[in-house]
Amino acid sequence: MSLSKRSWAEPFKIKMVELLKMTTPAQRLKAIKEAGYNTFLLKSEDVYIDLLTDSGTSAMSDQQWSGLMLGDEAYAGSKNFYTLEKAVQKYYGFKYLIPTHQGRGAENLLSQVMIKKGDIVPGNMYFTTTRLHQELAGGTFVDVIIDEAHDSENLFPFKGNVDLNKLEALIKKHGAKKIPYVCVAVTVNMAGGQPVSMENLKQLRKLTNKHGIKVMLDMTRIAENAFFIQQNEKGYANKSIAAIVKEICSYTDGGTFSGKKDALVNIGGFLVVNDKKIFEEASNLVVVYEGLHTYGGLAGRDMEAMAIGIAESVQDEHMKARIGQVQYLGDKLLEAEVPIVLPVGGHGIFVDAKRFLPHIKQDQFPAQALAAEIYTDSGVRTMERGIVSAGRNKKTGKHYYPKLELVRLTIPRRVYTQAHMDVIAESVQHVYENRKKIKGLKMVYEPKYLRFFQARFEKL
Ligand code: F0G
Repeated sequence: MSLSKRSWAEPFKIKMVELLKMTTPAQRLKAIKEAGYNTFLLKSEDVYIDLLTDSGTSAMSDQQWSGLMLGDEAYAGSKNFYTLEKAVQKYYGFKYLIPTHQGRGAENLLSQVMIKKGDIVPGNMYFTTTRLHQELAGGTFVDVIIDEAHDSENLFPFKGNVDLNKLEALIKKHGAKKIPYVCVAVTVNMAGGQPVSMENLKQLRKLTNKHGIKVMLDMTRIAENAFFIQQNEKGYANKSIAAIVKEICSYTDGGTFSGKKDALVNIGGFLVVNDKKIFEEASNLVVVYEGLHTYGGLAGRDMEAMAIGIAESVQDEHMKARIGQVQYLGDKLLEAEVPIVLPVGGHGIFVDAKRFLPHIKQDQFPAQALAAEIYTDSGVRTMERGIVSAGRNKKTGKHYYPKLELVRLTIPRRVYTQAHMDVIAESVQHVYENRKKIKGLKMVYEPKYLRFFQARFEKL
């Protein structure tokens, strides 16, 4: 067998395990009803395989755990801050670092510092917390992702790309002064973990340079994006993930980062920039919301673990197994003819609830209903990424109706085995075979912000 065809087995062995509680169907029925059919409101104890998110749920390495013992818990100037700063400069190439408790802390700082009331913030598809912070700062998010991203069956390998024509039209319409930066996510979470190509980033840099507009990355899953560039973009097959990650950053002016994904830690994030003035403003503001600029809401030990995690995240073997496992699950579901977003993205499988449950109207929350159904079947916890996540238009107060109505099976890194993937696939297949019996939901409680986290539903 040729080397490239060989399996993706993990480059680690397991030295500690966490035992799980097994539940009965009756227990699960009761649990999901009590949770208002919202998988975010389930107790983790009642979950068998937890695919709610890949955020903060990964397994740290023995190196990271030993890094925790090196925590320098000084209020100011902790050693671990400087270790993290070095890692950021080495792997991403950005000058200035401001740690935050997690990604959204950095989004808040960036939005407050850079966005003025009435500004327009273009981005390659919205992300829930990112858009909210942009709006709270007085900006309006405008989606400039390519149309292919909204089509779950389109096989284009870089569905995260920015549509440069849409962006140019937006600049023409509002003027460059109204656009503080373009927010580029690598990979695009809400599109199904779809990557951006290097060519697109280069062209974006050219266009924004012409107009004096900054490019800020949401670099949360940047190493995963680099893997797709390595696999699918001409000229990158022989480059390392580490080199590709650094090249991505080189076309931008900074970024926000949730360390809870790529960087293999349970908590942590940061803002990075090259511009000294933005850095100074943000490092003043961080004191208000997070903590002193050398810890930003993190313990010293958390910064140490994140620095080690960043180095581990750009190892080629790690990423091959990480995304290999996601693709393995994708292949199983495709074999069972379950409708999923293609191509399979970086951090999970996204089931297309519109095609899975064509009999449920979008305002009866098909993806929400499907996530509840999968949990009831097997104790596998997934989450909704559709109309509930999209929320309401801040001006009209009406639901957004996103084209993609998805259930996300998010795979934590280094946590589950191939046998777990088999169990997940069998459960989704079983629910698919019985899909006609599934009913829609009505929302009986809707919180004001990021409603998907806490909304409650009843069965219709
Ligand atoms: N940007 C992206 C693309 C994300 O996926 C997330 C978090 C954030 C920013 C915010 O980071 O959680 O550290 O504050 N995504 C998680 C998820 C919550 O489940 O997709 P955070």
